Amino acid sequence: MAENELIKEIEKAKEKYSQYIHEEEEKENFIKLMEKFVKDLKRHEKIMLRSDKRQKKEYDELQKRLEEVEKLQKAQKKLIDSFIKIIAEAIDTKSSYTGKHCERVPEIAIELAKAASQSEKFEFEIKNEQQETEISIAAWLHDCGKIVTPEYVVDKAVKLETIYNRIHEIRTRFEVINRDLIIEALKRKMNGEDEKKVDEWLKKEQKQLQDDFDFIAKLNVGSESIEESTLERLQNIANREWLRYFDDTKGLSKGEIERIPEEDFNQKLPVREKLISDKQRHKIKRPAEEIEEYKKYGFKVEIPENLYNYGEVYNLSIKKGTLTKEEFFKIQEHAMMTIKMLEQLPFPDYLKNVPIYAGAHHEKLNGKGYPRKLTEKDLPIPARIMAIADIFEALTASDRPYKHPKKLSEAIDILADMVKKGELDKDLFLLFLTSGIYLEYAKKYLKPEQIDDVDVNAYVDYFTKGNKTN
Ligand SMILES: [Fe+2]
Ligand SMILES: [Fe+2]
Repeated sequence: MAENELIKEIEKAKEKYSQYIHEEEEKENFIKLMEKFVKDLKRHEKIMLRSDKRQKKEYDELQKRLEEVEKLQKAQKKLIDSFIKIIAEAIDTKSSYTGKHCERVPEIAIELAKAASQSEKFEFEIKNEQQETEISIAAWLHDCGKIVTPEYVVDKAVKLETIYNRIHEIRTRFEVINRDLIIEALKRKMNGEDEKKVDEWLKKEQKQLQDDFDFIAKLNVGSESIEESTLERLQNIANREWLRYFDDTKGLSKGEIERIPEEDFNQKLPVREKLISDKQRHKIKRPAEEIEEYKKYGFKVEIPENLYNYGEVYNLSIKKGTLTKEEFFKIQEHAMMTIKMLEQLPFPDYLKNVPIYAGAHHEKLNGKGYPRKLTEKDLPIPARIMAIADIFEALTASDRPYKHPKKLSEAIDILADMVKKGELDKDLFLLFLTSGIYLEYAKKYLKPEQIDDVDVNAYVDYFTKGNKTN
């Protein structure tokens, strides 16, 4: 009952019962007592009113502060989101070979994660928005380590490429030898040798020289795997000599000078040079602390002794593709850099798995991935999802220069092969197909001519019943 109603009741009681008290003194005491009640109640009401007002004021202030905190939180989230997207965009922009990889991988990853969360097949559930954010951030940043990969390695299109294609340097030496041959022929004619015979000799030598250059130029492109016999011919051509009349220790940077062995300074000119060579100065040493640091992170990738080896014969001898083992390591190093960078960030508790999810996108269930050679038991569902999203985007991307995008069926077949080899998660691969996520993505990002039929049932049959697919 509210105070004012209580007061009314007391007033009524005072009137009603006071008439029954005949003793004046008692009556007076009764009335005084009732009036005291009324007074106390009125005072109490006033106190309560004041307290209510104070409480309301405090509540309003608290509400205001909460709104401010919420606003700040939203602004911070927006800032972090933009920051993450800027990093991803920077990586995508850095190399045209990457296209919009960092932007598209999250689309596949999030959709597949949601589907896995809804499926009973997986012991995995996205329980709240924060968990989804964790997966999304990991996907956006999965290749953030590429920010430190040298462009020339990412984009290395021919074997002799460093910052520029050094085939031009070698071609100039062929030009020198060609002129030397002409000079030798002229000298021989001047010395009375038979002109016709000398011309025949010159023609034969020049033809050989042209053939040798064509061979080297073709080898440089690196489009085919090479045989042992190819390496022999390369070595024979490389061993051909020419005379260098100019000091090759002049006009160099401090770094280059440091790589030149003592005996190369003040050489007596002219110097007999090999047409194509591997020199000490071609090798860039890896800082010892780098190896120690990588061990601390538990990376199990074999680390080449040199940071780079620009040796000409060494590069032309690359058996497949255009990368040396040092450059191949540089490419793989992006996954290590991703881990190193993300593990340094003070993620709040709900984002603590970002480095694990992002850093494991090149790991394989059979332990043959990198950089930690993790196995099935160490790879959480979101990390396995990253691997599928990463490969599928890379295979189907149609915006990479000099790279023919795969048709949808070819890309799915490659993923299936990887599942067969025990590299990718079978159930996630099947979910990727049966959920239709692969097709939704294809319709959005692939060129119409890339989208062909995929026999989803055949894959489901193969992987669930063991029947053979195409
Ligand atoms: Fe990667
Ligand atoms: Fe990637």
